[in-house]
Amino acid sequence: MKVMIIGGGGREHAIAVSAAKSSRVTKLYCAPGNAGIEEVAECVPIGVMEFERLVAFAKEKEVDLVIVGPDDPLVGGLADAFAEAGIRVFGPRKNAAIIEGSKAFSKELMKKYGIPTAAYEVFSDADAAMEYLKTARFPIVLKADGLALGKGVLICNNLQEALDGVKEIMLDKHFGSAGNQMVIEEFMTGREVSVLAFCDGTTIKTMTSAQDHKRAKDGDQGLNTGGMGTFSPSPFYTAEVDAFCQKHIYQPTMDAMKAEGRDFVGVLFCGLMLTADGPKVLEYNARFGDPETQVVLPRMKNDMIDVMEACIDGRLSEITLEFEDNAAVCVVLASEGYPEHYEKGLPITGLENFSGKDGYAVFHAGTKKDAEGRIVTNGGRVLGVTALGADLKQARANAYAATEWVQFANKYKRNDIGKAIDEA
Ligand code: AMP
Ligand code: GLY
Repeated sequence: MKVMIIGGGGREHAIAVSAAKSSRVTKLYCAPGNAGIEEVAECVPIGVMEFERLVAFAKEKEVDLVIVGPDDPLVGGLADAFAEAGIRVFGPRKNAAIIEGSKAFSKELMKKYGIPTAAYEVFSDADAAMEYLKTARFPIVLKADGLALGKGVLICNNLQEALDGVKEIMLDKHFGSAGNQMVIEEFMTGREVSVLAFCDGTTIKTMTSAQDHKRAKDGDQGLNTGGMGTFSPSPFYTAEVDAFCQKHIYQPTMDAMKAEGRDFVGVLFCGLMLTADGPKVLEYNARFGDPETQVVLPRMKNDMIDVMEACIDGRLSEITLEFEDNAAVCVVLASEGYPEHYEKGLPITGLENFSGKDGYAVFHAGTKKDAEGRIVTNGGRVLGVTALGADLKQARANAYAATEWVQFANKYKRNDIGKAIDEA
């Protein structure tokens, strides 16, 4: 079967590697892909928001299944565009992807269906938001309503920071139209866990847990990023926590979306905070996480394509998801300066050190081939070095050792990915 993946980051590289492993896949395309994905798929230079060109390409090549990676095209309705053209697609329709596309929507959904989350208010007027903040308790969390590359969240420690934040989001439009509306919510403390789940609209089956590190610098300092590293499983996500979440979060979310006429088919990503009052939802995403996918899929025993087809056909209940009894750590190698200003086009060396090494992978996030055929940096997050291990400590040691196998100018990484493992 011919499969096409939409996207060009580390998540899509991990998805492409899993797709390539499937015995059923005879041809793999990726649009636009990157220099790493090129090793397992034919990359086509079409952007993820070029819906008409993507659909035309899939038709021309008689693609049997399309897998959409990123949030922007899903929220924009790319799955609908493929479906309307009669092409099978894995990823939620626009009316379901709104669970990620609008934080106001997802908060209202959770409130309506009693799904545990932080207390909140929605504002579409900056003055009203500022007035509200004058009587609020700090710290407090401001969130741009729409998509903002995972960066539209501000944690404010006092009134002045919060007023500045409202200005940044709603008046200066730092995150563009994502800031037309804003959620202000209660600050929660606890361990964060990411749980990704396959969904067929009715049934939801969770994958193994993971934890991301969103801040740019060691010790969770610096700006929020798209993710600087992950580990899986989370030792804090116990069987008891899982049982609670299955009953009060995952299935209720599936049922709520169905009740709203927004059947969710695809991967639902639940960002959870394990608070003293129990697990609560921080956010939903309508897709695989990045870089969670880079530690979750390498541990999955199932044929990923089988599971995705079961989701599309509404027979996920027949599938048992299975994961290796091991652990994985992914350390992101970024360009110094990310998530703000950084250079691109810097040559990368040492990638060949990963070939043939079982239990190691280097997922390309922002890379491309330059005119001379050299692989160069092409984004803030450049590579994700993933290693497996018998346990988390071993996986972490392996991953950090492997970060030394590749070099590029301005290479930057956090040195404390998985530090929480030591506290478990
Ligand atoms: P989000 O994009 O909504 O997941 O937010 C990004 C990050 O901001 C989360 O991973 C948390 O670390 C933090 N965050 C978001 N909402 C809250 C909250 N209500 N309380 C504390 N931290 C939060
Ligand atoms: N790692 C967080 C995300 O994918 O949004």
